[in-house]
Amino acid sequence: MNDDFEAEELLAGTQVPGDADLDASLRPKTLADFIGQAKVREQLELVLHAARNRGRTPDHILLSGPPGLGKTSLAMIIAAEMGAAIRITSGPALERAGDLAAMLSNLVEGDVLFIDEIHRIARPAEEMLYLAMEDFRVDVVVGKGPGATSIPLDVAPFTLVGATTRSGALTGPLRDRFGFTAHMEFYETAELVQVLARSAAILGIALEPEAAVEVAGRSRGTPRIANRLLRRVRDYAEVRGDGRIDVPSAQAALAVYDVDELGLDRLDRAVLGALVRGFGGGPVGVSTLAVAVGEEPATVEEVCEPFLVRAGMIARTPRGRVATSAAWHHLGLTPPAGALSQGLGVRAREDAAPTLFDDRRG
Ligand SMILES: Nc1ncnc2c1ncn2[C@@H]1O[C@H](COP(=O)(O)OP(=O)(O)OP(=O)(O)O)[C@@H](O)[C@H]1O
Ligand SMILES: [Mg+2]
Repeated sequence: MNDDFEAEELLAGTQVPGDADLDASLRPKTLADFIGQAKVREQLELVLHAARNRGRTPDHILLSGPPGLGKTSLAMIIAAEMGAAIRITSGPALERAGDLAAMLSNLVEGDVLFIDEIHRIARPAEEMLYLAMEDFRVDVVVGKGPGATSIPLDVAPFTLVGATTRSGALTGPLRDRFGFTAHMEFYETAELVQVLARSAAILGIALEPEAAVEVAGRSRGTPRIANRLLRRVRDYAEVRGDGRIDVPSAQAALAVYDVDELGLDRLDRAVLGALVRGFGGGPVGVSTLAVAVGEEPATVEEVCEPFLVRAGMIARTPRGRVATSAAWHHLGLTPPAGALSQGLGVRAREDAAPTLFDDRRG
Protein backbone atom coordinates (compact mmCIF):
# COMPACT_ATOMS: atom_id res chain seq x y z
CA MET A 1 0.00 0.00 0.00
CA ASN A 2 2.80 2.32 1.00
CA ASP A 3 4.64 1.41 -2.15
CA ASP A 4 1.66 2.38 -4.21
CA PHE A 5 1.58 5.74 -2.59
CA GLU A 6 5.21 6.41 -3.36
CA ALA A 7 4.84 5.28 -6.92
CA GLU A 8 1.96 7.65 -7.27
CA GLU A 9 4.00 10.53 -5.90
CA LEU A 10 6.80 9.77 -8.31
CA LEU A 11 4.56 10.61 -11.24
CA ALA A 12 2.51 13.38 -9.67
CA GLY A 13 2.66 16.67 -11.53
CA THR A 14 2.05 18.48 -8.26
CA GLN A 15 4.76 19.36 -5.80
CA VAL A 16 5.31 16.56 -3.27
CA PRO A 17 7.51 16.57 -0.15
CA GLY A 18 11.14 16.73 -1.19
CA ASP A 19 10.49 18.67 -4.39
CA ALA A 20 10.77 22.16 -2.96
CA ASP A 21 14.58 22.37 -2.80
CA LEU A 22 15.00 20.79 -6.16
CA ASP A 23 12.36 23.03 -7.70
CA ALA A 24 14.21 26.06 -6.39
CA SER A 25 17.67 25.03 -7.56
CA LEU A 26 16.52 23.94 -11.00
CA ARG A 27 14.20 26.82 -11.70
CA PRO A 28 15.11 28.71 -14.88
CA LYS A 29 15.91 32.35 -14.06
CA THR A 30 15.39 34.14 -17.39
CA LEU A 31 13.02 33.84 -20.33
CA ALA A 32 15.94 32.68 -22.48
CA ASP A 33 16.65 29.96 -19.93
CA PHE A 34 13.04 28.79 -19.98
CA ILE A 35 12.72 25.74 -22.23
CA GLY A 36 9.71 25.07 -24.45
CA GLN A 37 6.36 26.92 -24.39
CA ALA A 38 7.61 28.85 -27.43
CA LYS A 39 4.28 30.54 -28.01
CA VAL A 40 3.86 31.69 -24.43
CA ARG A 41 7.45 32.87 -24.31
CA GLU A 42 7.07 34.93 -27.46
CA GLN A 43 3.84 36.49 -26.25
CA LEU A 44 5.30 37.31 -22.85
CA GLU A 45 8.42 38.79 -24.40
CA LEU A 46 6.24 41.20 -26.37
CA VAL A 47 4.09 42.14 -23.38
CA LEU A 48 7.12 42.81 -21.19
CA HIS A 49 9.13 44.55 -23.87
CA ALA A 50 6.29 46.90 -24.73
CA ALA A 51 5.74 47.74 -21.09
CA ARG A 52 9.43 48.48 -20.63
CA ASN A 53 9.42 50.75 -23.67
CA ARG A 54 6.48 52.68 -22.32
CA GLY A 55 7.97 52.82 -18.86
CA ARG A 56 4.77 51.30 -17.48
CA THR A 57 4.01 48.25 -15.44
CA PRO A 58 2.87 45.37 -17.67
CA ASP A 59 -0.76 44.30 -17.81
CA HIS A 60 -1.94 41.74 -15.30
CA ILE A 61 -0.99 38.25 -16.43
CA LEU A 62 -2.77 34.94 -15.86
CA LEU A 63 -0.75 31.73 -16.17
CA SER A 64 -2.99 28.75 -16.70
CA GLY A 65 -2.08 25.09 -17.00
CA PRO A 66 -1.62 21.74 -15.27
CA PRO A 67 0.73 21.32 -12.28
CA GLY A 68 4.48 21.24 -12.75
CA LEU A 69 4.68 22.98 -16.15
CA GLY A 70 6.51 26.06 -14.91
CA LYS A 71 3.92 28.63 -13.80
CA THR A 72 5.74 29.65 -10.61
CA SER A 73 9.01 29.73 -12.52
CA LEU A 74 7.48 32.03 -15.14
CA ALA A 75 6.07 34.37 -12.50
CA MET A 76 9.55 34.80 -11.05
CA ILE A 77 11.00 35.29 -14.50
CA ILE A 78 8.45 38.02 -15.25
CA ALA A 79 9.57 39.94 -12.16
CA ALA A 80 13.24 39.38 -12.96
CA GLU A 81 12.81 40.53 -16.57
CA MET A 82 11.12 43.71 -15.35
CA GLY A 83 13.80 44.24 -12.70
CA ALA A 84 10.98 44.20 -10.18
CA ALA A 85 10.51 42.64 -6.78
CA ILE A 86 8.04 39.79 -6.43
CA ARG A 87 5.66 39.30 -3.51
CA ILE A 88 4.28 35.81 -3.28
CA THR A 89 1.01 34.63 -1.84
CA SER A 90 -1.72 32.17 -2.74
CA GLY A 91 -5.47 32.03 -3.07
CA PRO A 92 -6.02 29.88 0.05
CA ALA A 93 -3.89 32.30 2.12
CA LEU A 94 -6.18 35.21 1.22
CA GLU A 95 -9.07 34.16 3.34
CA ARG A 96 -10.16 37.62 4.45
CA ALA A 97 -10.12 40.85 2.48
CA GLY A 98 -7.85 42.26 5.20
CA ASP A 99 -5.13 39.76 4.28
CA LEU A 100 -5.11 41.06 0.76
CA ALA A 101 -5.37 44.73 1.80
CA ALA A 102 -2.21 44.27 3.88
CA MET A 103 -0.33 42.82 0.90
CA LEU A 104 -1.58 45.47 -1.49
CA SER A 105 -0.76 48.42 0.74
CA ASN A 106 2.84 47.22 1.08
CA LEU A 107 3.44 47.14 -2.67
CA VAL A 108 5.97 49.48 -4.21
CA GLU A 109 5.48 50.84 -7.74
CA GLY A 110 6.38 48.21 -10.33
CA ASP A 111 6.19 45.25 -7.95
CA VAL A 112 4.89 41.92 -9.16
CA LEU A 113 2.25 40.40 -6.90
CA PHE A 114 2.11 36.66 -7.51
CA ILE A 115 -1.04 34.86 -6.39
CA ASP A 116 -0.70 31.11 -6.82
CA GLU A 117 -3.87 28.98 -7.04
CA ILE A 118 -5.80 32.16 -7.62
CA HIS A 119 -9.01 30.22 -8.31
CA ARG A 120 -9.13 29.44 -4.59
CA ILE A 121 -9.23 33.05 -3.42
CA ALA A 122 -12.10 33.86 -1.03
CA ARG A 123 -14.95 35.99 -2.34
CA PRO A 124 -14.40 39.18 -0.29
CA ALA A 125 -10.71 39.22 -1.20
CA GLU A 126 -11.58 38.62 -4.83
CA GLU A 127 -13.90 41.62 -4.89
CA MET A 128 -11.21 43.80 -3.38
CA LEU A 129 -8.85 42.55 -6.03
CA TYR A 130 -11.15 43.75 -8.85
CA LEU A 131 -10.77 47.36 -7.81
CA ALA A 132 -7.06 47.02 -7.10
CA MET A 133 -6.43 45.53 -10.54
CA GLU A 134 -8.50 48.10 -12.36
CA ASP A 135 -7.96 51.37 -10.52
CA PHE A 136 -5.04 50.64 -8.20
CA ARG A 137 -7.06 51.40 -5.14
CA VAL A 138 -8.94 49.51 -2.49
CA ASP A 139 -11.79 50.35 -0.17
CA VAL A 140 -11.02 49.18 3.32
CA VAL A 141 -14.14 48.72 5.41
CA VAL A 142 -13.74 49.78 9.00
CA GLY A 143 -16.26 48.77 11.64
CA LYS A 144 -19.38 46.69 11.34
CA GLY A 145 -23.09 47.18 10.76
CA PRO A 146 -24.67 50.59 10.06
CA GLY A 147 -21.70 52.45 11.51
CA ALA A 148 -19.22 50.87 9.11
CA THR A 149 -17.31 53.21 6.85
CA SER A 150 -15.09 52.48 3.92
CA ILE A 151 -11.78 54.22 3.56
CA PRO A 152 -10.33 54.48 0.06
CA LEU A 153 -6.65 53.64 -0.14
CA ASP A 154 -4.30 54.08 -3.09
CA VAL A 155 -2.26 51.13 -4.23
CA ALA A 156 1.03 51.58 -6.09
CA PRO A 157 0.80 50.50 -9.74
CA PHE A 158 1.70 46.82 -9.77
CA THR A 159 1.39 43.78 -12.00
CA LEU A 160 -0.69 40.92 -10.76
CA VAL A 161 0.50 37.53 -11.93
CA GLY A 162 -2.05 34.84 -11.16
CA ALA A 163 -1.45 31.12 -11.58
CA THR A 164 -4.16 28.52 -11.82
CA THR A 165 -4.47 24.85 -12.65
CA ARG A 166 -8.18 25.37 -13.19
CA SER A 167 -8.87 28.50 -15.22
CA GLY A 168 -12.44 27.29 -15.66
CA ALA A 169 -12.97 27.76 -11.92
CA LEU A 170 -12.14 31.47 -12.15
CA THR A 171 -15.09 33.84 -12.08
CA GLY A 172 -15.73 35.81 -15.25
CA PRO A 173 -15.07 39.23 -13.68
CA LEU A 174 -11.68 38.12 -12.36
CA ARG A 175 -10.67 36.53 -15.63
CA ASP A 176 -11.68 39.63 -17.56
CA ARG A 177 -9.32 41.80 -15.57
CA PHE A 178 -6.24 40.05 -16.83
CA GLY A 179 -4.76 41.73 -19.90
CA PHE A 180 -3.02 38.57 -21.01
CA THR A 181 -3.60 34.88 -20.39
CA ALA A 182 -0.81 32.41 -21.04
CA HIS A 183 -1.98 28.85 -21.60
CA MET A 184 0.80 26.43 -20.75
CA GLU A 185 0.90 23.18 -22.68
CA PHE A 186 2.43 19.83 -21.88
CA TYR A 187 6.00 19.58 -23.14
CA GLU A 188 7.24 17.57 -26.10
CA THR A 189 9.76 14.82 -25.39
CA ALA A 190 12.47 16.80 -27.16
CA GLU A 191 11.84 19.75 -24.85
CA LEU A 192 11.97 17.54 -21.78
CA VAL A 193 15.28 16.18 -23.03
CA GLN A 194 16.58 19.76 -22.90
CA VAL A 195 15.14 20.23 -19.42
CA LEU A 196 16.89 17.05 -18.28
CA ALA A 197 20.20 18.01 -19.88
CA ARG A 198 20.06 21.37 -18.13
CA SER A 199 19.17 19.84 -14.77
CA ALA A 200 21.88 17.19 -15.09
CA ALA A 201 24.44 19.90 -15.80
CA ILE A 202 23.34 21.90 -12.74
CA LEU A 203 23.37 18.85 -10.48
CA GLY A 204 26.61 17.45 -11.91
CA ILE A 205 25.03 14.25 -13.20
CA ALA A 206 26.52 12.38 -16.15
CA LEU A 207 23.45 11.76 -18.29
CA GLU A 208 23.87 10.25 -21.73
CA PRO A 209 21.71 11.88 -24.42
CA GLU A 210 19.88 8.64 -25.29
CA ALA A 211 19.19 8.05 -21.62
CA ALA A 212 17.70 11.55 -21.42
CA VAL A 213 15.31 10.58 -24.22
CA GLU A 214 14.38 7.46 -22.28
CA VAL A 215 13.56 9.42 -19.11
CA ALA A 216 11.85 12.26 -20.98
CA GLY A 217 9.49 9.86 -22.74
CA ARG A 218 8.20 8.66 -19.39
CA SER A 219 7.73 12.06 -17.81
CA ARG A 220 4.14 12.73 -18.82
CA GLY A 221 5.00 15.95 -20.60
CA THR A 222 5.88 17.57 -17.27
CA PRO A 223 9.28 19.10 -16.33
CA ARG A 224 8.73 18.56 -12.62
CA ILE A 225 8.21 14.82 -13.19
CA ALA A 226 11.25 14.70 -15.49
CA ASN A 227 13.43 16.24 -12.77
CA ARG A 228 12.05 13.85 -10.18
CA LEU A 229 12.68 10.78 -12.33
CA LEU A 230 16.19 12.07 -13.00
CA ARG A 231 16.89 11.99 -9.27
CA ARG A 232 15.62 8.42 -8.90
CA VAL A 233 17.63 7.26 -11.90
CA ARG A 234 20.71 8.94 -10.48
CA ASP A 235 20.24 7.05 -7.19
CA TYR A 236 20.15 3.80 -9.09
CA ALA A 237 23.19 4.64 -11.21
CA GLU A 238 25.19 5.63 -8.13
CA VAL A 239 24.28 2.56 -6.07
CA ARG A 240 24.32 -0.11 -8.76
CA GLY A 241 26.79 1.41 -11.20
CA ASP A 242 29.44 4.08 -11.54
CA GLY A 243 26.97 6.99 -11.41
CA ARG A 244 26.79 7.49 -15.16
CA ILE A 245 23.27 7.27 -16.52
CA ASP A 246 23.07 5.34 -19.77
CA VAL A 247 20.05 3.73 -21.43
CA PRO A 248 20.31 0.35 -19.66
CA SER A 249 20.64 1.93 -16.20
CA ALA A 250 17.79 4.37 -16.90
CA GLN A 251 15.54 1.53 -18.04
CA ALA A 252 16.49 -0.68 -15.10
CA ALA A 253 15.94 2.14 -12.60
CA LEU A 254 12.54 3.05 -13.99
CA ALA A 255 11.55 -0.62 -13.95
CA VAL A 256 12.40 -0.70 -10.23
CA TYR A 257 10.07 2.24 -9.70
CA ASP A 258 7.35 0.70 -11.86
CA VAL A 259 7.31 3.48 -14.43
CA ASP A 260 6.66 2.01 -17.87
CA GLU A 261 7.67 3.27 -21.34
CA LEU A 262 4.74 5.64 -21.53
CA GLY A 263 5.07 6.96 -18.01
CA LEU A 264 2.26 4.85 -16.58
CA ASP A 265 2.69 3.56 -13.05
CA ARG A 266 1.28 0.49 -11.37
CA LEU A 267 -2.04 2.07 -10.50
CA ASP A 268 -2.51 3.42 -14.02
CA ARG A 269 -1.92 -0.04 -15.40
CA ALA A 270 -4.21 -1.60 -12.81
CA VAL A 271 -6.99 0.74 -13.91
CA LEU A 272 -6.41 -0.10 -17.55
CA GLY A 273 -6.22 -3.80 -16.70
CA ALA A 274 -9.49 -3.73 -14.80
CA LEU A 275 -11.21 -1.82 -17.56
CA VAL A 276 -9.97 -4.13 -20.30
CA ARG A 277 -9.87 -7.53 -18.59
CA GLY A 278 -12.60 -7.05 -16.02
CA PHE A 279 -15.13 -5.13 -18.05
CA GLY A 280 -14.28 -6.01 -21.63
CA GLY A 281 -13.13 -2.46 -22.31
CA GLY A 282 -16.19 -0.72 -20.85
CA PRO A 283 -18.18 1.41 -20.70
CA VAL A 284 -17.96 1.31 -16.94
CA GLY A 285 -18.51 3.93 -14.25
CA VAL A 286 -15.54 5.40 -12.48
CA SER A 287 -16.66 4.25 -9.03
CA THR A 288 -16.99 0.66 -10.23
CA LEU A 289 -13.53 0.92 -11.70
CA ALA A 290 -12.20 2.31 -8.43
CA VAL A 291 -13.64 -0.59 -6.44
CA ALA A 292 -12.04 -3.03 -8.87
CA VAL A 293 -8.56 -1.61 -8.20
CA GLY A 294 -9.17 -0.99 -4.49
CA GLU A 295 -8.81 2.78 -4.66
CA GLU A 296 -10.92 5.81 -3.88
CA PRO A 297 -12.94 7.03 -6.86
CA ALA A 298 -11.34 10.46 -6.43
CA THR A 299 -7.86 8.96 -6.79
CA VAL A 300 -8.80 7.19 -9.99
CA GLU A 301 -10.57 10.23 -11.34
CA GLU A 302 -8.02 12.88 -10.39
CA VAL A 303 -4.71 11.04 -10.35
CA CYS A 304 -4.92 8.34 -13.04
CA GLU A 305 -7.56 9.40 -15.45
CA PRO A 306 -6.29 12.76 -16.69
CA PHE A 307 -3.11 11.24 -18.02
CA LEU A 308 -4.79 8.09 -19.36
CA VAL A 309 -7.25 10.25 -21.25
CA ARG A 310 -4.50 12.52 -22.52
CA ALA A 311 -2.47 9.51 -23.62
CA GLY A 312 -5.47 8.33 -25.64
CA MET A 313 -5.95 5.16 -23.56
CA ILE A 314 -9.28 5.96 -22.01
CA ALA A 315 -12.23 7.87 -23.38
CA ARG A 316 -14.91 9.41 -21.21
CA THR A 317 -18.37 8.76 -22.59
CA PRO A 318 -21.79 9.55 -21.16
CA ARG A 319 -22.17 5.88 -20.27
CA GLY A 320 -18.81 5.54 -18.56
CA ARG A 321 -15.14 4.98 -19.25
CA VAL A 322 -14.12 3.12 -22.38
CA ALA A 323 -10.73 1.63 -23.21
CA THR A 324 -9.37 2.62 -26.62
CA SER A 325 -7.50 0.22 -28.85
CA ALA A 326 -4.27 1.87 -27.64
CA ALA A 327 -5.07 0.60 -24.14
CA TRP A 328 -5.50 -2.96 -25.36
CA HIS A 329 -2.27 -2.77 -27.31
CA HIS A 330 -0.44 -1.29 -24.34
CA LEU A 331 -1.43 -4.31 -22.26
CA GLY A 332 -0.27 -6.60 -25.05
CA LEU A 333 -3.81 -7.62 -26.02
CA THR A 334 -5.72 -7.53 -29.27
CA PRO A 335 -8.53 -5.00 -29.19
CA PRO A 336 -11.98 -6.35 -30.10
CA ALA A 337 -13.51 -5.20 -33.36
CA GLY A 338 -15.21 -1.90 -32.76
CA ALA A 339 -12.85 -0.72 -30.02
CA LEU A 340 -12.41 3.02 -30.06
CA SER A 341 -9.30 3.90 -31.94
CA GLN A 342 -7.57 6.95 -30.69
CA GLY A 343 -4.02 7.98 -31.37
CA LEU A 344 -1.41 8.73 -28.75
CA GLY A 345 -2.33 12.37 -28.42
CA VAL A 346 0.11 12.94 -25.59
CA ARG A 347 0.72 16.50 -26.61
CA ALA A 348 -2.84 17.59 -26.68
CA ARG A 349 -4.94 19.80 -24.58
CA GLU A 350 -7.81 20.65 -26.85
CA ASP A 351 -8.22 24.04 -25.24
CA ALA A 352 -4.56 24.89 -25.25
CA ALA A 353 -4.54 27.45 -28.04
CA PRO A 354 -3.18 30.65 -26.52
CA THR A 355 -5.58 33.53 -26.80
CA LEU A 356 -5.34 37.17 -25.96
CA PHE A 357 -8.99 37.43 -25.16
CA ASP A 358 -10.05 34.41 -23.28
CA ASP A 359 -13.73 33.94 -23.90
CA ARG A 360 -14.08 30.51 -22.43
CA ARG A 361 -16.48 30.43 -19.56
CA GLY A 362 -16.19 27.74 -16.95
N1 LIG B 1 10.41 25.53 -19.05
C1 LIG B 1 11.15 24.97 -18.09
N2 LIG B 1 12.45 24.82 -18.27
C2 LIG B 1 13.20 24.23 -17.32
N3 LIG B 1 12.72 23.74 -16.16
C3 LIG B 1 11.42 23.87 -15.94
C4 LIG B 1 10.56 24.49 -16.88
N4 LIG B 1 9.32 24.49 -16.40
C5 LIG B 1 9.38 23.89 -15.20
N5 LIG B 1 10.64 23.50 -14.92
C6 LIG B 1 11.06 22.74 -13.74
O1 LIG B 1 9.91 22.19 -13.13
C7 LIG B 1 9.83 22.62 -11.79
C8 LIG B 1 8.39 22.95 -11.49
O2 LIG B 1 8.04 24.15 -12.11
P1 LIG B 1 7.06 25.19 -11.41
O3 LIG B 1 7.16 25.09 -9.93
O4 LIG B 1 7.34 26.52 -12.00
O5 LIG B 1 5.68 24.60 -11.90
P2 LIG B 1 4.20 25.11 -11.58
O6 LIG B 1 3.50 25.17 -12.89
O7 LIG B 1 4.26 26.35 -10.77
O8 LIG B 1 3.60 23.93 -10.72
P3 LIG B 1 2.36 23.99 -9.68
O9 LIG B 1 1.11 24.06 -10.48
O10 LIG B 1 2.48 22.70 -8.92
O11 LIG B 1 2.58 25.18 -8.80
C9 LIG B 1 10.77 23.81 -11.68
O12 LIG B 1 11.47 23.83 -10.48
C10 LIG B 1 11.77 23.59 -12.75
O13 LIG B 1 12.84 22.84 -12.24
MG1 LIG C 1 3.66 26.66 -8.76
